[in-house]
Amino acid sequence: MVQVIPSILSADLTRLGEQVREASDAGADRIQVDVMDGHFVPNLTFGPDVVAAVHRAAPRLPVEAHLMVRRPEQFVEAFARAGAEYILVQVESTSSLYRTVHAIGEAGCRAGLVLNPATPVETIRELVPYVCLVNVMTVEPGFGGQRFIPTSPDKIRRVRELAPGLDVEVDGGIDADTAPVVVEAGASLLVAGSSVYGHPGGVGAGIQAIRDAIGRPR
Ligand code: DX5
Repeated sequence: MVQVIPSILSADLTRLGEQVREASDAGADRIQVDVMDGHFVPNLTFGPDVVAAVHRAAPRLPVEAHLMVRRPEQFVEAFARAGAEYILVQVESTSSLYRTVHAIGEAGCRAGLVLNPATPVETIRELVPYVCLVNVMTVEPGFGGQRFIPTSPDKIRRVRELAPGLDVEVDGGIDADTAPVVVEAGASLLVAGSSVYGHPGGVGAGIQAIRDAIGRPR
């Protein structure tokens, strides 16, 4: 079943715990924390303490730590200890990707690979056996509220062909309009920030709008 994963990048940080619980109460399948270091991407956001706070706010909601950072291997332990269930690393961010993916497993978490828009699908081939998901960035990472890259569905299909046994996650510009397009192309995990936390009807309505658009009951 296609899963909806709110990302806290666009949440009201003055009441982050409430916003996490709203997502959990609305039936979010996971929650994503967008970790940015100001080097790999031109923005600076959250660290392990925020992952720990998100986990405390809704202990039953699995947390994905999306590491948009240089040399993510230096942070795997800290995010695992903070309570991340999934640790996603950008294939472009380290020269020791194989070692980093294995370190995530050794830390007791599940590993995911993330492809920036300009990174070819072929890059993940050798690591497919060791990860649980591939994230196809449908925007250039760094900020919420960006426009969905229209050529993304073709890339999603090519990831699906290369790794039929993995979840394909999409991230960036996912809303009620783009969700059906990416699901038709083969996406099974939908990360949504601004369309959920910016929805006029609130978090629950934002999640439900995406579910309705893809024909998924609550
Ligand atoms: C990278 C971030 C965003 C975020 C989703 O920029 O990873 O993609 O999760 O942002 P929205 O859903 O607002 O495009």
